[in-house]
Amino acid sequence: MTVSSKITITRPDDWHLHVRDGKFLPSVLGDTAQRFARAIIMPNLADPVTNTQRAADYRDRIIEALPNEYKLTFDPLMTLYLTNRTNASEIKKAMDSGFIHAVKWYPAGATTNSDKGVSDIVGCYDVLEAMADEGMPLLIHGEVTDPNVDVFDREKIFIDQFLSGIIKNFPTLKVVFEHITTEDAVSLVESASKNVAATITAHHMMLNRNALFQGGIRPHHYCLPVLKREKHRAALIKAATSGSKKFFLGTDSAPHTKSTKENACGCAGIYTSHGGIEFYAEIFDKAGALDKLEGFASFNGPDFYNLPRNHDKITLQRKKVKITEEFTFGDEVCVPFRAGGELNWSII
Ligand code: NCD
Ligand code: ZN
Repeated sequence: MTVSSKITITRPDDWHLHVRDGKFLPSVLGDTAQRFARAIIMPNLADPVTNTQRAADYRDRIIEALPNEYKLTFDPLMTLYLTNRTNASEIKKAMDSGFIHAVKWYPAGATTNSDKGVSDIVGCYDVLEAMADEGMPLLIHGEVTDPNVDVFDREKIFIDQFLSGIIKNFPTLKVVFEHITTEDAVSLVESASKNVAATITAHHMMLNRNALFQGGIRPHHYCLPVLKREKHRAALIKAATSGSKKFFLGTDSAPHTKSTKENACGCAGIYTSHGGIEFYAEIFDKAGALDKLEGFASFNGPDFYNLPRNHDKITLQRKKVKITEEFTFGDEVCVPFRAGGELNWSII
């Protein structure tokens, strides 16, 4: 085996993950805990995680549902769901808990379970001020919800209408622009202060929007923000492999049942945790930048969140592994990314 067909890196973390709740948890947690030491757990449950007590209860349910071998090794990093009624006093409580690491802003109506999200961010300015004071990061689903705005432009318009202003008004607030999909988002993050960072998914670096219509409509390639043009995909790869500390791994793995994806009104979200690090290895390898994978996957996230880097290592090899067509998800099934195909890299 040549040197470049194997790589050992510090164990990575996933800085953007959906694991759902109840009967669905045991179906997906193993994939993440096998690869990652920690994951930022998104709070967009049907009944969202809006306060510290709910986050504590949800964290307990996650740990309970983890396979035994990962109960002590995997740390779910919890987040709160920002609403129009979030109290600024909740921020200190969340910070003091030690297990809540961020607050997520979903513009109301932007994506799955976001209807209880924020309809007027200015009304939340006291909460953002408390977050800046406490050093609590704000995670942003950066898309406008105006139905008159073209769905492919929603991220770009969000930058102009909201994000630029937030960054200017709260220069000390830590902001993660989540799952960025455009060259515009890359530019914004690059030109902002060190308090502004971004996560990038593997699927947005592997597919452009043609993948939604490849010989027919492809519900398993539908996620939000929706896939974009090729030039944007290229900009994301360039950013992720640049060595910049502002970009880090966030899978946005978002499982839905097969029946809610293959549907007249299919849900947004792609399940990628079965290749949570392997897909990124493939992308970095193709870009000739395997040497930048460790920074992106294992260092930049914890450094931004002021958490220690992991100590143990994982080794990946360029070896194909078959991907299942579907797996049991609660009492239904879920179709994973690249179902029936192959992982080109695997963990030893
Ligand atoms: C996510 C989900 O299903 O919870 N869906 C998605 O397409 N990414 C929500 C989100 O992150 O937008
Ligand atoms: Zn998400």
